[in-house]
Amino acid sequence: MDLKEQISKARMPRHIAIIMDGNGRWAKRQGMARMFGHRQGVQTVHNITEAAAELGVEYLTLYAFSTENWNRPKEEVDALMILLVDTIAKETPTLMKNNVRLTTIGDLSRLPEETCRKFKECIAQTSANTGLQMVLALSYSARWELTEAVRMVAKKAAEGTLRADEIDEQTVSMHLTTAGIPDPDLLIRTSGELRISNFLLWQLAYAELYFTPCLWPDFSVEEFYRAIIDYQHRERRFGKTSEQVI
Ligand code: FPP
Repeated sequence: MDLKEQISKARMPRHIAIIMDGNGRWAKRQGMARMFGHRQGVQTVHNITEAAAELGVEYLTLYAFSTENWNRPKEEVDALMILLVDTIAKETPTLMKNNVRLTTIGDLSRLPEETCRKFKECIAQTSANTGLQMVLALSYSARWELTEAVRMVAKKAAEGTLRADEIDEQTVSMHLTTAGIPDPDLLIRTSGELRISNFLLWQLAYAELYFTPCLWPDFSVEEFYRAIIDYQHRERRFGKTSEQVI
């Protein structure tokens, strides 16, 4: 039976989050510059987004640029920003064709003006699409997001619009950049690194984690299917016993 047929439609993860890692190493292995790996990584993003949309996944969150990535050499940061703009221009028709709605999380105010503007245009253009919601994490880190949430909650408490003893988990979730999006069911990280790297720390509390040595540019649709099949064989207990969840 081929891999796709092994996927159960009834147990599809609603939300898949991916740490796309290994572009630089992939390029280095071929004796090429790091940007060569990032450009190939864009092709993987295209393939995986189409596959997720076709499978009926509801949310796909991709860690495209972290707060810490600003510390990379300026030439790489600048080239990545240009790549993002070019990719958006090139891929918007594909998003439309696949009924994908683009949204972003992160501190967009730190992005160059043109990059930010292009994203806003694409977000507006795809806003009525009803299929997969693609969430691009750009200039994002979970500690930044949690700090912002604490700041907003503290401000409301100081203004008297929120009482300290009313603050619960729901309050925190509502003040995160992912408000309204269900928590990821499955987190995939490529390139063999076994870390979360400041990604969705609150939201990943009960996610199933899938790590693969495959570098992001090599991460094929078949590898993606393998991750979903692996997820579907796990028992999610959310702190309960096996007997309780049967
Ligand atoms: C990690 O590889 C990748 C990134 C920091 C950037 C990811 C960006 C893309 C895949 C291209 C743009 C994406 C979209 C959504 C249009 P790395 O550079 O950390 O690789 P390394 O660990 O091998 O050095």
